Parts: sequence; structure tokens; C-alpha cells
Amino acid sequence: MTKEKTRFFIRTFGCQMNVNDSEKIAGLLAAEGHEPVSDLAAADFVFINTCAVREKAASKLYHALSRLKKAKGERPDLRIGVGGCVAQLEGEQILKRAPQVDVLVGSAYVTAMEGCNHVCSFCVVPRTRGPEVNRPPSQIVGEVTGLVERGYSEVMLLGQTVNAYRYGDLDFADLLGLVNAVPGLRRLRFTTSHPEHVSVRLADALRDLDKVCPHLHLPVQSGSDRVLRSMRRGYGARQYVETAELLRDRVRDLALTSDIIVGYPGETDEDFQETLSLVEQVGFDGLFVFTYSPRPGTGAQRLADDVPDAEKSRRLGVLNDYQQRVQRARNQVRLGSREEVLVDAAFERGRVAGRTPHFRIVHLEGDRQLLGRTVEAEIVGAGANSLVGRLPQAIH
Ligand code: SAH
Ligand code: F3S
Repeated sequence: MTKEKTRFFIRTFGCQMNVNDSEKIAGLLAAEGHEPVSDLAAADFVFINTCAVREKAASKLYHALSRLKKAKGERPDLRIGVGGCVAQLEGEQILKRAPQVDVLVGSAYVTAMEGCNHVCSFCVVPRTRGPEVNRPPSQIVGEVTGLVERGYSEVMLLGQTVNAYRYGDLDFADLLGLVNAVPGLRRLRFTTSHPEHVSVRLADALRDLDKVCPHLHLPVQSGSDRVLRSMRRGYGARQYVETAELLRDRVRDLALTSDIIVGYPGETDEDFQETLSLVEQVGFDGLFVFTYSPRPGTGAQRLADDVPDAEKSRRLGVLNDYQQRVQRARNQVRLGSREEVLVDAAFERGRVAGRTPHFRIVHLEGDRQLLGRTVEAEIVGAGANSLVGRLPQAIH
């Protein structure tokens, strides 16, 4: 899942909800190693997040797009994306009126909780976002209902440790049950989960709730107990592996993805080998590998950042190469199978893409009208990072 580093710029038109969504999108892009820039001229990718509720937002969008058309004339490499509910509702219209748009995405995020009660030594979140605050379930369900009414069929619940959610007697599995019952919702995802808060109840929710997608993003960070202790993650390597086994035992065909930091202060080659063997043992479906960098105000900032940059990059490369091979092999097994794809992106020249319930990307030749629809695609191509599908037949 590694990609080239992109400098991105996000503009937001519309309601407060869009502003919140933009922050989340920026956070997700930054977490994948892309770099936010505050100047449009410095960006390789401009993303406009829009709202359909007010006509003004739509006309602002078209105005901004006409200016971007000029910028793209001068810099053909510039990529333009449009997301939010205008994208969802008038997808085809936008691409007709503004062919300079490269990517159209329907994205809908709902915050379940903010902040974090953990104290991971490398992480700025506890300091910048403060302790965990859980939103009342009625608000969460209300927001999901509103999104479904505006045309979204997939929703992602967000929280730094979303599976630690608690509200009165309700835990995260209960919350999933409540959101699962929202009429018209087709897919429910959530991120990010912390290994310490994985429970049998969560596994059973993943297995039993029909809209909850069989995918869990469960950052492990390292496979060395010594490093994990210094990171203050609250679990050891063996415990993580057992958690992964519990999940896979109970949830058939669960996709597991993870984050890893290489080059944490004091990480020896032996520590790194332990990370590699954990990765081999668990067999992840996707992996985001980061090289450690000290962040201000974190516990680890006091430790010497003593792994040389070249060694950090080497370790990153070893993990990524290994993971790419695993993903290619796993994707190849899917050749000839049929996958349910929710189309959430439309590109130029009649190409669209979407995700399977397991979060695998499928590229299709198809009409932009497919945006927001679920299709059943036959898998005819498989790379390390995505699949290619054929002859989509709209099933919903
Ligand atoms: N729990 C949060 C973590 C956000 S940061 C969540 O919602 O996902 C995402 C990932 O960035 C972390 O899992 C970690 O692997 C990586 N990361 C965080 N701080 C880092 C640092 N100082 N150096 C390198 N990678 C870091
Ligand atoms: Fe929280 Fe950051 Fe750790 S968000 S769980 S302190 S990685």
C-alpha cells in the first residue's frame, strides 16, 4: 500500500460537517505519508470537499474548478479531486461540466470519539487532541441516518482508538449494532482499532452484523517486546498474534491491515527481525510502514533518534518488498472470482474504482453513473495493490 508522497491541498465548501470531513481526510492522507501544503501553487493534488445542501456551494465549486482548469493548463501533472455530497449527488454532472476533474470520490466519515487515553511514546495525539471523549450514540446514529438520506451508502466511524468506545453501559460492539440497524446503510467500516481493546464481542460483531465489513485495521507498530514496551503500547508481540488468531478464528476471511514504525530509538537489527517475523506470522492484507521521526512533546523525543536514516529506509524497504509479494500472491488467488464493489471513485476516460467489503481496490471500465452504486465484478487482473474487474452488472 505504499504510494509516492504527494503534496496535497484541500479546499472546503459547505457546512461544518464538510469542514470536519476535510480535517479527517487531511489526517488520513498525512498518516499515509502525504504532505499537506497551504498553498495551491505548491500542491500536486487539489481536493475540493463540497456540500450539496446549499446551491451556493455548488456554484462555488464550479467557479473553483474553472480556475483549476487554468492551473492544469500550465501544469498538466496537477491532479484534481472532488469529494463530499455534491460529488455523490451530481457526479456525472460535474464530470460533464468540468472534464479537468481526475477523481471523484464519495466519502463519508462520522466521528465516534475524539482524543486518546493511551500514551504511546511516539504519538502527538494525546497531547494535541487531549483525552478520549465519546459522542452519544444517538448523535452518531443521527449523523449516519442523515448521510444515508443524502445518498451515501457506506460510512466509516472514526476514532483514534475507536474500538475503546464506551458510552454509559454501551460498548463499541453495541454501537456497531445500533449503526448497523440504520435503514438504507449498506456498508459500515471503522478505524482505528487498538489491539488492547479487541474483544470477543467485537469479533462477533464483525462476524454477525451484516453491514459491518470484514476488515480490521489493527496497528501493531513493532514485533519486538522491548520496543513495544518502550513505545508503551500495552501489549507484547505474542499477545498481538493471539489477538489476530482470535479474530481470524471467529471471523471467516477477515482482512487484517496494520501500521508499523521502523527505526524507533534503540531498534536493533534483532528487534527489526522480530517485526519481520511477526509480519510473516500474521500475514497482513495491507501494511503502512512509517520511518520513525521524533515529534515535539512526545515521550520518545527524549530518546536518542539513533537509527541512521539510511538504515530506517532499508528496513522500510525490506518490509514493503515482503508485503508487496504477499499482497500480490493474495490478490492473484482472487482471479476469476466475483467481488462486490462499491464504486467510490470516477476517473477520466471511463474508468472507475471502488472497494470490496475487504477493502481491496478494484479498477473497472465503467460509466461514471456507477458512482455510489454497488456492482458485481469478475476479477480479471491482480497486482500487489489492486485488482482489475470486468463487466460490472449493477446489482443494486
Ligand atoms: N491511533 C491513531 C494513530 C494515528 S497516527 C489512528 O487513528 O490511527 C497513524 C500511524 O502513524 C501510527 O499508527 C504510527 O504507525 C504512525 N506514527 C505515529 N507517530 C509516528 C512517529 N512519530 N514517527 C513515525 N510514525 C508515526
Ligand atoms: Fe493513541 Fe496515538 Fe497511541 S492516538 S493509541 S497514543 S498511537
